[in-house]
Amino acid sequence: MIICSKLADFERAMCQLPKDCEIGFVPTMGALHNGHVSLVKKALKRTKYVIVSIFVNPTQFNNPMDLEKYPRTLEEDCNKLEQAGAYLVFAPGTHEIYPDTHSKQFDLGGLDKYGEGPSRPGHFNGVAQVVTRLFDIVKPTFAVFGQKDFQQLAIIKHLVQSLGYNTQIVTGNTVREKDGLAMSSRNMLLTKEQREAAPLIYKTLRKASAMAAQNLCSPNELCKWVIEQIDSNPLLETEYAQILDGSSLVLATSWQGHKELQLCVAVNAKPVRLIDNIKIK
Ligand code: PAF
Repeated sequence: MIICSKLADFERAMCQLPKDCEIGFVPTMGALHNGHVSLVKKALKRTKYVIVSIFVNPTQFNNPMDLEKYPRTLEEDCNKLEQAGAYLVFAPGTHEIYPDTHSKQFDLGGLDKYGEGPSRPGHFNGVAQVVTRLFDIVKPTFAVFGQKDFQQLAIIKHLVQSLGYNTQIVTGNTVREKDGLAMSSRNMLLTKEQREAAPLIYKTLRKASAMAAQNLCSPNELCKWVIEQIDSNPLLETEYAQILDGSSLVLATSWQGHKELQLCVAVNAKPVRLIDNIKIK
């Protein structure tokens, strides 16, 4: 497996690839877990030229403490990627990704109005900055993103279409621990007690999904119920529980008029913030 941290080395390595080969891309911020590995394996089903980037992108952190605490495990990450069969790891420094200013503003098509948008001002613009920059560098045929970041996935699909990128966006399923907790690099920051409490999040989402199927209450009532359930554990505090339209990502106030609906939550196990979602229609 090739490892590059300098843009020039990366470009040199990419020049060695066979002409017209498919390039699969998995952008990450490192601290890799089996969820990331599953994205790499998904990409490897289609091409052996799977590039993984590891870059903790400062522009998508609206909280400096969160950026500072974000786990960095480059050596372990490279071992996992080598074992998974990745072709190349690109782990650039900030100046390689942002040589000059990184103040570019993106039109996110209003997809950041709910969910993570209001809770993390500037977050999705930062994601747009880094993903477009990485796409410009890697020029992937396809890129794989996890469904756990449901809103990020929708925003990236929108950007690719609106900016005319020639990259196909492929979705990887959320990978869960045995007890249902969605795998996340942030899970390693949980205390033992918080880790034991955290499976309640997905357990509640599953129950809510069953309730939605029975049409027993309104979307708003269901979200209130979700918050009550999760917050019944004193170690968890729900920041939001929202049912969003699967394509426009607007808040659903009724079950009617939406082809697809996704229940999305953000939960604080302080200072760690966890997100998860489930398809309910
Ligand atoms: O999902 C992530 O890990 C990040 O948001 C991404 C897509 C790698 C951009 O920094």
